[in-house]
Amino acid sequence: MKGRFYWWPEWAKLKKAYARSAEKQMDADKFNAICAGTGLPNIHQKSTFKFKDVADGASRFVGNSPSGEKPYARIYTRLGNPNTEYLEKVLFQLECQHIIENALAADEKTPTIASLVFASGMAAITTVIMGFVQPGDAIIVGNVYGCTDSFMRFLQKRFGIEIIFVDATKAENIKAAIDAHKNTVAVLIETPDNPTLQMCDIEAISKYTEEEEILLIVDNTFCSPYLQQPFRLGADVVVHSLTKYVNGHSASIAGAALGPYEFFSKEVYPVYKDFGPTPSPFDSWLNSLTIQEMGVRMEHQCKTAQRIAEFLEQHPHIEKVWYPGLKSHPQHELCKKQMRNGGAMISFEVKGGFEAGVKLMNFFARPDTPMELAVSLGSVISYIEHPASMTHAVVPEEDRIVRGITNSLVRLSIGVEGYSVLAEALDRGLRS
Ligand SMILES: Cc1ncc(COP(=O)(O)O)c(C=O)c1O
Repeated sequence: MKGRFYWWPEWAKLKKAYARSAEKQMDADKFNAICAGTGLPNIHQKSTFKFKDVADGASRFVGNSPSGEKPYARIYTRLGNPNTEYLEKVLFQLECQHIIENALAADEKTPTIASLVFASGMAAITTVIMGFVQPGDAIIVGNVYGCTDSFMRFLQKRFGIEIIFVDATKAENIKAAIDAHKNTVAVLIETPDNPTLQMCDIEAISKYTEEEEILLIVDNTFCSPYLQQPFRLGADVVVHSLTKYVNGHSASIAGAALGPYEFFSKEVYPVYKDFGPTPSPFDSWLNSLTIQEMGVRMEHQCKTAQRIAEFLEQHPHIEKVWYPGLKSHPQHELCKKQMRNGGAMISFEVKGGFEAGVKLMNFFARPDTPMELAVSLGSVISYIEHPASMTHAVVPEEDRIVRGITNSLVRLSIGVEGYSVLAEALDRGLRS
């Protein structure tokens, strides 16, 4: 829907000049150095910050920052906080280091991307959407996490927003949906998606969204910036559940969104300020700590996942394995093009269907096994879960089946336990 976003022409210029990149991944050493960081602040576990005088307070309330810190980061913690500001900066560097470098080289003064941290991944997704959606709009949605899916259905039911669910694994389907719905203002995708690990071609889809001047929003939770950096591929907004790989220990709930500076500062931030989806200072500090070794952790998890996927694929009790790093994955070539490696998530179907899957999952509910029967992902501990009755139970059954979320699908999140321990336990569980 051309002309819908007043900030688009400026963003289009900046995006073209600095964001797209032929190099799809940041060098791993550079990535790990940014993660480790050097400036982790003390914990500012405070709701309010004292002003120097009345003029100082008034000046901060109109967005001035006398010491050069982020505007609104030292007024009242719902508006911002030094710990959250620090985490926002690290995430900004991890997703956008190339943009920072390109803009610096061109002596660009206009900020390109803004970064915001939230109390949850869902808070990030819903706040970004409330930052632009209005009556009469349509949003195209690919295979997404259960609560994202149900939020879209809520927008449709309560506010008349048209939600068009498509199979986004084929970019042509997005193009056809945009052509058929001239009121489309955004496309929201996950890649690889949760839980079937099918992939979307971000670069191909971005050509269509850019032609129409509509937002391409990528939920990058399953990858984290370590595996995939969507701005390089043409995304306009990147959202994360930091609860997963950034925290890495299942010790807190948090989220993040990064997107065009003008859009975020003028439209998304006011929603953030008024809805209050702000994280606690301690959670931001904790995530700033756990992100320090995220790349190292993930490298180990992904290497183990690749071997576990290969092990499962040849196991006599396994029907089918979905893992982007396997040659048998229908989009393996796309994985090589846009991800650093195949990731640490695996989905599979056990021979014997639902009953056999339940038996395997109950095996891992036992305390003497190295995994937990639990939802969530990205932790140092491996998790096994049943999407149809757990993470995706809110998706209507007929839609679940079309998307491949069958009753016999089992999802694995690989932790840091190591191949031999996990393979031995899976073999024991499958044969029990
Ligand atoms: C892909 C994806 N996006 C978003 C979310 C929501 O994140 P949170 O639980 O932090 O709100 C999840 C949660 O599982 C997820 O898997």
